Amino acid sequence: MANEDNLDVIVICGSLRKGSYNAALARMLPKLAPAAMKLRAAPPFDTMPFYNFDIQNTAGFPAEATAFADAIRAADGVIIVSPEYNWSMPGTLKNAIDWVSRMQDQPFEDKPVALQSAARGAMGGARMQYHLRQSLLSLDAVLFGRPEIIVTFAPKKFDEKTLELTDQPTIDIVTQQLTAFDRFIRRVNGKA
Ligand SMILES: Cc1cc2nc3c(=O)[nH]c(=O)nc-3n(C[C@H](O)[C@H](O)[C@H](O)COP(=O)(O)O)c2cc1C
Repeated sequence: MANEDNLDVIVICGSLRKGSYNAALARMLPKLAPAAMKLRAAPPFDTMPFYNFDIQNTAGFPAEATAFADAIRAADGVIIVSPEYNWSMPGTLKNAIDWVSRMQDQPFEDKPVALQSAARGAMGGARMQYHLRQSLLSLDAVLFGRPEIIVTFAPKKFDEKTLELTDQPTIDIVTQQLTAFDRFIRRVNGKA
């Protein structure tokens, strides 16, 4: 960290598609975060092979998994912005978590993590968040509680053409979460 007061936070987006509402939400975060919270995108995780102990045991961890884990370890905190797939988290995201979970210096241990989701429907990805929360707890991540960011009916809240987040109540609550997450990270990491 260049400046002691700054927080280095990485953002993991669970959607891979270009027109993703979750990616659009993730792109908004630097505008809404406190000035001292520096956000950067996590390294890609969609090229990791499916977790297989035999690969780990023979070839070792894939380079992508190592880069992903290193980025998490180096960060003061992590924000995961993800869609819900079949009432849970996308398989690509779970696969990345499974890979890094087998590492000796497991990167999520004691790491402050906040969750966000956007979906077209009325549940806004809430069920995904509770599954993700459960998996991350198994890795001793330190999960931020409230406010929760559950963006329902996403097509009404983002500009159809630019995908800019335009819904003011959503902008307000995301701003509140980022401010509260900043305080949470400092408390957890003993930087308050
Ligand atoms: C495989 C798959 C499963 C899905 N399952 C759910 C679901 O369980 N709940 C939900 O709200 N939306 C579900 N959706 C719809 C997604 O929420 C919607 O496509 C959303 O826009 C995806 O996020 P993105 O825009 O960031 O890519 C599913 C979509 C896909 C492709």
